[in-house]
Amino acid sequence: MKVLIVYYSLYGHTYQLARAAEKGVASVPGVEVVFRRVQEFDSVLQATAQSQHASQLRDQMKDIPICTNNDLRQADGVLFGSPTRYGNMTAQMKLLIDGTADLWMKGEMEGKPAGVFTSTATTHGGQETTLLTMMVPLLHLGMLIVGLPYSLPQMIHTDGRGGTPYGATSIAGPRGELQPKPEDLQLAEALGKRVAEITQKVRGQK
Ligand SMILES: Cc1cc2nc3c(=O)[nH]c(=O)nc-3n(C[C@H](O)[C@H](O)[C@H](O)COP(=O)(O)O)c2cc1C
Repeated sequence: MKVLIVYYSLYGHTYQLARAAEKGVASVPGVEVVFRRVQEFDSVLQATAQSQHASQLRDQMKDIPICTNNDLRQADGVLFGSPTRYGNMTAQMKLLIDGTADLWMKGEMEGKPAGVFTSTATTHGGQETTLLTMMVPLLHLGMLIVGLPYSLPQMIHTDGRGGTPYGATSIAGPRGELQPKPEDLQLAEALGKRVAEITQKVRGQK
């Protein structure tokens, strides 16, 4: 039983959520975690070459394999993580999803549980819109969307941090100066665990 976590992150916030989700998936016995990143664009590499922050993160992530359609094919469940870009997922993540026509035509993603997570700069910068629009192509692929229930205590709050029923979230700050709160990471971990547990139930023992 394999659960894939695939993420894009330029400044590390979504990467931290991905690592927390990985912990949650790994906590479920009998589930193997597959951890992948999304291919970066050359234009972004060039535009951020002088950014110490982005360069350090790229160095840290360089050994994480790039996600392929085979990774998606072999996964029994998938968590997708992308920072927001104008209230939607990044083009890098969209390119991966738009490249799945062969999987779609054969129904190879159908019946696989999926969870989504994101990071925004600001509280109202589009967490829900990003998560909801990330779900749309996953539904076209026939995936089963898994969210976060309100029985998780970290979900009930009124302060400026993440936590939505649509998936795990965090707030990076306008200059990326904030870090995910412990509760944000706990919710990402809970999402990973939930996707892994539901994957086991839906896909049976393998
Ligand atoms: C082109 C562009 C558009 C963005 N649009 C939004 C936005 O609509 N709302 C928002 O809160 N943050 C927006 N951001 C900020 C990013 O979401 C933020 O840098 C990201 O959450 C950091 O995640 P990362 O550390 O994983 O890269 C945007 C950033 C860029 C470069």
